[in-house]
Amino acid sequence: MAGRLSGRTAVVTGAGKGIGRASAVALAREGANVVLAARTAGDLELLAAEIAALDTGARALAVPTDVSEEADVDALAQAAFEAFGKVDILVNNAGVGKNGTVATLSTADYDWLFKNNMRSTWLCTKAFFPPMLARKEGWLIYVSSVAGLNGLPNEPIYCATKFAQMGFAQAIDYEAYPNNVKVSVIAPGGANTHYGFYNGTRTPGDPMLEGFHEPEDVAEAVVFAATQPPKTRVFMVWMRPMNEALTSGSGVHFKGAAAEAAGS
Ligand SMILES: NC(=O)c1ccc[n+]([C@@H]2O[C@H](COP(=O)([O-])OP(=O)(O)OC[C@H]3O[C@@H](n4cnc5c(N)ncnc54)[C@H](OP(=O)(O)O)[C@@H]3O)[C@@H](O)[C@H]2O)c1
Repeated sequence: MAGRLSGRTAVVTGAGKGIGRASAVALAREGANVVLAARTAGDLELLAAEIAALDTGARALAVPTDVSEEADVDALAQAAFEAFGKVDILVNNAGVGKNGTVATLSTADYDWLFKNNMRSTWLCTKAFFPPMLARKEGWLIYVSSVAGLNGLPNEPIYCATKFAQMGFAQAIDYEAYPNNVKVSVIAPGGANTHYGFYNGTRTPGDPMLEGFHEPEDVAEAVVFAATQPPKTRVFMVWMRPMNEALTSGSGVHFKGAAAEAAGS
């Protein structure tokens, strides 16, 4: 069955889990072929099998990739172009988080966060944007965050990486839109994913997570950005889960908001 994105090819970074995984499925449900990039090959193989079982004609290609490494991104691009001939959509989603204060975070944390969040953004844009310019068609979709719009407590370096993505996207829009390439930023609030389980930022089973966006909710925004009418681009989808303040600079989440509503 043809979908709104049949005939398109999307590269999704961080496709193994969370928002990237849900975005790959949502794009494939719309008929797009998807190139799946993350470091854990097993995650990608499971996802590719799931997508192959959809009845939309979408094909999935799993390419284990560290998107913060230039040689890996070059190999990803080569695999994508060999398999599908073109890449229409880049969902630049891979990212990591670590909370702390200036006193507790280290310079190694700084380098790790910028490498995985911003260097990866640069490398993937560098690989996939110029061919879009040459074809005069494309979609660059960046999964930033509320942390790219508001400074948040305990997230100084993470916020800096997400503000960096935001500025980068705004700047390259000037190169993109005259050439019919659409730049979009998705800025979700808290999302119920694997994010932060690896470094103690979040704990699996925390009730706070239940109130957050589901990854599929954010994936809807990715599809929304990729399916605008020809003359329209949506630069920003600014989302919040219902348990989170609009500008989360106060750090109000589920527990705080519930206490606030109860007048305590
Ligand atoms: N969860 C939230 O509350 C939230 C809110 C707003 C924005 N975001 C943003 O949404 C994006 C996705 O986060 P998520 O919540 O879906 O996290 P997640 O569940 O932890 O998934 C992250 C995915 O990115 C991959 N990844 C991380 N570093 C990578 C690298 N260097 N190269 C390739 N793949 C890499 C991971 O796989 P491997 O480890 O196997 O590589 C995993 O598949 C991030 O950019 C995050 O900042 C998250």
